[in-house]
Amino acid sequence: MAERFSAADLEVQPFAPGPADFSAFPVALWQRLQNKHWRQSRSDLLDYNDQGGHGSLRRAVADYVRAFRSVQLDPDQVLITTGTQQSLSLCAQLLADHGDTVWIEDPAYWGAVKAFLATGLRLQPIPVDAEGMAPDACPQATAPRLIYATPSHQYPSGAVMSLARRQQILQLAHQHQAWVLEDDYDSEFRFSGPPLSSLQGLDHGERVLYMGTFSKVLYPGLKLGYLVVPKRLVAAFKRAHYDLNRPGQMAQQAALAEFIEMGHFASSLRRARLAYAERRQALIRALQPVLQTPPSTPAALSTAPLGWLAGAAQGLHLCMRLPTLEHTTDRRIAQQLAPHGLIARPLSAYCLARQDLQGLVLGYGYASLSQIAHHGPRLADLLQNSLNSPKKI
Ligand SMILES: Cc1ncc(COP(=O)(O)O)c(C=O)c1O
Repeated sequence: MAERFSAADLEVQPFAPGPADFSAFPVALWQRLQNKHWRQSRSDLLDYNDQGGHGSLRRAVADYVRAFRSVQLDPDQVLITTGTQQSLSLCAQLLADHGDTVWIEDPAYWGAVKAFLATGLRLQPIPVDAEGMAPDACPQATAPRLIYATPSHQYPSGAVMSLARRQQILQLAHQHQAWVLEDDYDSEFRFSGPPLSSLQGLDHGERVLYMGTFSKVLYPGLKLGYLVVPKRLVAAFKRAHYDLNRPGQMAQQAALAEFIEMGHFASSLRRARLAYAERRQALIRALQPVLQTPPSTPAALSTAPLGWLAGAAQGLHLCMRLPTLEHTTDRRIAQQLAPHGLIARPLSAYCLARQDLQGLVLGYGYASLSQIAHHGPRLADLLQNSLNSPKKI
């Protein structure tokens, strides 16, 4: 990956992928709940916590992921973390040694790349195709200690891992005695088709560590997420989480548990899901002039320089694939859009080893309908010019 993303790239500008629209968060209600728990000023709310998080939040998370993500667990298996980034680091620190190999999807989520490199792991990129991570494409891959995947909605390509691939990944994990890290970062926002089951549920939680985050559903600065670990790892993870991270924020965790129990989480989610589905449709409508139907084979590509949508209707971003063009690249197109105040991430910049992917990753999480109506046609115009001839833009 020639150019790596970092936190500085997360501008909330149309159409930066990543950020959710936290402007709709019910701040007054949240403040009331927080005040209520602060008034109690019990020492267990002020101290570090060595139980993997506030009991009521761990129960609420367990009920939620069991019901909606078919995760198989007891509340004791849930650890509350400061988000997926901490969940990933903890897994890398505990389950692997310096120099061990982690299989990682190619293209990859940059946050996972950083967490693994920071713990001294060797990245083994595994190409992603329409069915998700494809280990058969890498017969020479070094045996993994960890396998990191986003099976419900591959980040950033949008592929949903097929059942056959899920079974293959689990079979390989068992064969290599490796641990699968399942990052389920946005499956709350699935806009069509039946809800997908988790990889963890398929494996009965034996070799899969499942992680989720409140960054997208509530707001990122909340800094709360969860990690579900297999039963035999619970004690070691609780101890290490305490030793390495000194978890706290108990009043906030208690308030969040109440927020979930009172149904506010479910209603925020319903509202957000509808809003994001509308935004996605609006962005796709705006992009119509530069889209063709996804080609079934490279030969089926239309001769016009048009993009196509890849992946599932889910989450807060879409992946627009582009043909390989002689006169321009996805990076160049992204650079040309930037002076117009439009952010599009080049798909090739998420790639670790492969050279064959061209496309743009466009977020609609933080772009309101009126912003999409305003900027969408301009984006399509600029793309059309850029795809036809870079000089006109
Ligand atoms: C693939 C993926 N995983 C996880 C996250 C969220 O991580 P965190 O909980 O650290 O905010 C993101 C955020 O953009 C993401 O894209």
